[in-house]
Amino acid sequence: EDFEGTGVWRYDDALPVEMGVTIQEGNTPLYEVPELEAETGVEHLHVKHEGMNPTGSFKDRGMTVGVQVASRLGVDRLACASTGNTSAALSAYGARSELETLVLLPAGKVAAGKVAQASLHGARILEVDGNFDTCLDIVQDLAMSGHVYLLNSLNPFRLEGQKTIGLEILEQCQDRTGAYPDRIVLPVGNAGNTSALYKAFRELVQSGALDESEVPKLTGVQAEGAAPMVEAVEEGNDEIRRWDHVETRATAIRIGNPVNAPKALPGIRETGGTAVAVSDDEITDAQRSLAEEGVGVEPASAASIAGLRKLRDQGVVGSDENVVCLTTGHLLKDPEEAAAAGSDPEPVPGDTEGVLDHLE
Ligand code: F0G
Repeated sequence: EDFEGTGVWRYDDALPVEMGVTIQEGNTPLYEVPELEAETGVEHLHVKHEGMNPTGSFKDRGMTVGVQVASRLGVDRLACASTGNTSAALSAYGARSELETLVLLPAGKVAAGKVAQASLHGARILEVDGNFDTCLDIVQDLAMSGHVYLLNSLNPFRLEGQKTIGLEILEQCQDRTGAYPDRIVLPVGNAGNTSALYKAFRELVQSGALDESEVPKLTGVQAEGAAPMVEAVEEGNDEIRRWDHVETRATAIRIGNPVNAPKALPGIRETGGTAVAVSDDEITDAQRSLAEEGVGVEPASAASIAGLRKLRDQGVVGSDENVVCLTTGHLLKDPEEAAAAGSDPEPVPGDTEGVLDHLE
């Protein structure tokens, strides 16, 4: 394919397989956000918008690798539990590779755009009477008993693909600012990205391409209503305590049992990063602020900006820092939250005079 050598697959030296199943993922923009940069008062602030991937989230980077492995293995049914984006991505890559796809979603807690994607790409959608963590328990049982091939972030091949977020950030930030970022702020659900970025940077250090001192501080952000990672970081624990009841407007990260915590907690600690919880209102404010700079994201993504604001207020992030905030999903994923956060349409008559009257 002519896409070989760009996007995720530009980094095939760092990946475990050769390119196969692709919908041209990766190579996402790193945006300047001058107003937010001035407001937060950091030296440099950029937004790495992973919502600009083919299915509108970073999950595509993992699926291009994970589904390629699955199709090489010759499995006949792919499956995942999902708060929405993983299911959207898996459905598209499953369709592309002509494999049957099964997705388990927490009933009533997945944003409309994501369900629509899984539906149109032809996945079988099971609406589970339970939250995401229950869905993941079930799909792990199905995988262990040989009924499905699991493509949640517990699948190490997926995280290999997601490493390329970190590699692209280093290159783009170096181009823009002449330096690697001091800190990467990212929303945390299952902590897959946190683990993947840490692995990418560790491999660069081991190969001699990056100095230990140049590894960005991994800084995780969760919603207050679903913050077991923040709790573990604050208490200095090596394991998280599972939260049975979780709630947040940012449904993508409505997760009480981050399964990659054992890999992500050392990443946060050893890079000198931290974790912080933000309220739903802070998330919505950040979503509006990004939108005012032309960057449309879903609520979970805005958590990174909300977290940066909080850590600046607390003096944890210094004014001399070069910061990249990761925005993980596109605005259109959750049209209802976007509309609720934005301005209301105004009904007007169907003639110019009526419209002019209304504008005055
Ligand atoms: N942001 C968005 C938009 C997500 O969809 C997710 C996870 C995260 C952040 C958290 O990333 O798990 O690597 O810490 N969504 C999963 C899903 C759970 O099913 O779509 P993480």
